[in-house]
Amino acid sequence: MKIVRTVIEVREQVKKWREQGLSVGFVPTMGYLHEGHKSLILKSVEQNDRTVVSIFVNPTQFGENEDLSTYPRDLDSDAALCTDAKADLIFHPEPEQMYPQGFCTGVNMSVLTQELCGKSRPVHFGGVCTVVSKLFNIVKPDRAYFGEKDAQQLAIIRRMVEDLNFDIEIVGCPIVRESDGLAKSSRNTYLNTEERKAAVILSKSIALGKELVQNGERDAQTIIKAMTEKISSEPLARIDYVEVVDALTMQKVQKIEKSVLVAIAVFIGKTRLIDNFSFNI
Ligand code: PAJ
Repeated sequence: MKIVRTVIEVREQVKKWREQGLSVGFVPTMGYLHEGHKSLILKSVEQNDRTVVSIFVNPTQFGENEDLSTYPRDLDSDAALCTDAKADLIFHPEPEQMYPQGFCTGVNMSVLTQELCGKSRPVHFGGVCTVVSKLFNIVKPDRAYFGEKDAQQLAIIRRMVEDLNFDIEIVGCPIVRESDGLAKSSRNTYLNTEERKAAVILSKSIALGKELVQNGERDAQTIIKAMTEKISSEPLARIDYVEVVDALTMQKVQKIEKSVLVAIAVFIGKTRLIDNFSFNI
């Protein structure tokens, strides 16, 4: 497995593979890889002849008071995980490689990006759309893999690919969890022992919401109220949002009549964590 840092090197490698008629899968990440990322890489390796993983902590998707400078990084351990999962190439650019002097173009989306996480992170999804578009143009994969852990991001990428005619199949992959239910996340590393125990309240409230819906509850407010009460029972938790939205448009719904996303964002101490489940009628 090779690690490259420049756009030219990625293009040369992918071109060689293309000349051999090989298919290419792509897994964009910000590194500090865990089993959640690995599940995406394994899926790509299964479905494609070659797999590219990008590791880039993208500055444009962090707001001013967010954790860009403290975001965890460990290239050696990331490379070991990629080797183990049989990825073929890591693209690990410096910020200057992705955003050279004079850079002033962005990909922006309305509607979907203004809901859920977009309310408290107004610049986030513009940065995600811009960097993912750039990465798609650099790697030019057949398929790209995204986790349902970031369900709003996945919906936004699907919308962007359709709106901008990217010729790439987007593959969504299920949430990978710790044994106690907490969704795996690079940001879990910020939690101290006490907070780590408290963080399980997210997946517990998700399980409660899921159970209600599966047992026939169709009123969004009833589900939101039950989940909110559950989360509020944990003193270290502070709710950002608990919402039931249309799975495609991310707009709030009152009644569950078609595919919905039930999504939460909760601060445990200073760390903001997200979780969700989807329900299709
Ligand atoms: P990052 O947070 O590193 O996540 C990379 C991919 O891994 C995303 O598609 C995310 O949904 C998926 N992922 C993370 N935790 C997961 C889990 N527990 N189970 C399943 N999948 C999981 O998301 C980003 O990076 C960035 O926004 C990026 C798309 C790379 C653009 O910068």
